[in-house]
Amino acid sequence: MPASGAPPASTPDESSAADGRDRSEAVVAAVATAVGLMTGSLPEREFAGPVLRLLGEAGGVSRVYVFDFQRQADGRYRVSQRHEWTAVGISAQIGNPDLQGLDLIEAGFGRWQEVLLRGEPIVGEIAEFPPSERPILEAQQILSLLVQPVFAGARIHGMIGFDACAPRAPWSRFEVSVLRIAAQAWGAAVLREERDAQLRHMQRMEAMGRMAGGVAHDFNNVLSVVGGAVEALQGEAAAPVPADGERYGRILRHALDQGRGLTRRLLEFSRPGSGHARELDLGEAVARAVPLLRQAAGSRVRVELERAPAPRVRIDPVQLEQVLLNLVINARDAMPGGGRVRVEVGPDPAGPGGAARLRVTDTGPGIPAGQRDRVFEPFFTTKADRGGTGLGLSTVFAIVTGHGGTIVLGPATGGGAEFLISLPAAG
Ligand SMILES: Nc1ncnc2c1ncn2[C@@H]1O[C@H](COP(=O)(O)OP(=O)(O)OP(=O)(O)O)[C@@H](O)[C@H]1O
Ligand SMILES: [Mg+2]
Repeated sequence: MPASGAPPASTPDESSAADGRDRSEAVVAAVATAVGLMTGSLPEREFAGPVLRLLGEAGGVSRVYVFDFQRQADGRYRVSQRHEWTAVGISAQIGNPDLQGLDLIEAGFGRWQEVLLRGEPIVGEIAEFPPSERPILEAQQILSLLVQPVFAGARIHGMIGFDACAPRAPWSRFEVSVLRIAAQAWGAAVLREERDAQLRHMQRMEAMGRMAGGVAHDFNNVLSVVGGAVEALQGEAAAPVPADGERYGRILRHALDQGRGLTRRLLEFSRPGSGHARELDLGEAVARAVPLLRQAAGSRVRVELERAPAPRVRIDPVQLEQVLLNLVINARDAMPGGGRVRVEVGPDPAGPGGAARLRVTDTGPGIPAGQRDRVFEPFFTTKADRGGTGLGLSTVFAIVTGHGGTIVLGPATGGGAEFLISLPAAG
């Protein structure tokens, strides 16, 4: 046993049954306090530290930590350590690069993925674990551990684990159950935080939408005045057209058309919704749009479609086309030297109760981490110099959510951008 593995001085001696009881009582009290913290209004990043410390001290363990699960396109999970508490003298693992973006199956932890996804804990002595799991655990001096899955609704959010680097009495079934409550409260808090954020986002979008509608309306009035002047300048046979009048007229008309295009987009943005939604086969609808998408993509960008049978959805086909066009044009803009856009239609593997998924990926540079939160915001653009309005993705967002769906950026692994749209099954 390395010296650093010795239990901290404050840890109760686990050798007698009475102390085991003390520990169980301490764990119950800590879980009660922790649940109180998590069900308040604190975000995860604020309650994580105190909760882990409470549970770690009460459980007499060496480390308590939380990992995030990130589902990959192929259904595998990558996990990354996000929060950690360590007892005095125990090596921290939060900076361990091996515990960031770890592919569970590749790392020999396929059993963990299976058991945790079933909602069950991993618990026991490392010496009795399958050989594929031991090297990573032994490298951290772990002798025994308990890991509980954390679910945010039906989706696995991560896992919370308790390492013992010194011999201690095994976890009792009672303690395992009590700590499961802590894991459940953690998941509920994460879900609440996500919903709050989504609600705030929707409220912002709604406010922006109202504003965009107002701007578009007033702008249109201005345009119609300009339009009248252009007519007068170009078309009035009675008055002689001044020198250069024709040329100015053409320039003005072009500007007018551009202005009208902008107001049309602003108006669509301010009142998207499922106006002409009808039940359709997503794969067929997307296939019908492919010629248009190829045209928009230009000759340097290849557009590929992959279809698998998916549940039927309810959506306005014109708005669906708008979504695809925006995504493909953005991909084209991101790949001036050429590349590939892939549109995939299939069932949504994570969609509760049947949903169809539209996945759009490209081979461009992707979206930098600092911008991932912002791309769906109205008027966010990195292309202002090239005429970008920043309304493309916010319109896409409004259309998708207006049809009861969701859109998120995929994990930033493969390099290019990845948009994942989920649409609920019709009926
Ligand atoms: N496929 C992509 N690859 C890289 N960055 C992207 C991609 N799609 C969107 N972005 C980023 O997101 C920003 C917002 O996109 P959005 O479509 O909302 O606006 P825009 O394309 O800049 O303007 P507009 O759509 O009005 O022409 C873009 O400016 C770009 O920085
Ligand atoms: Mg765009």
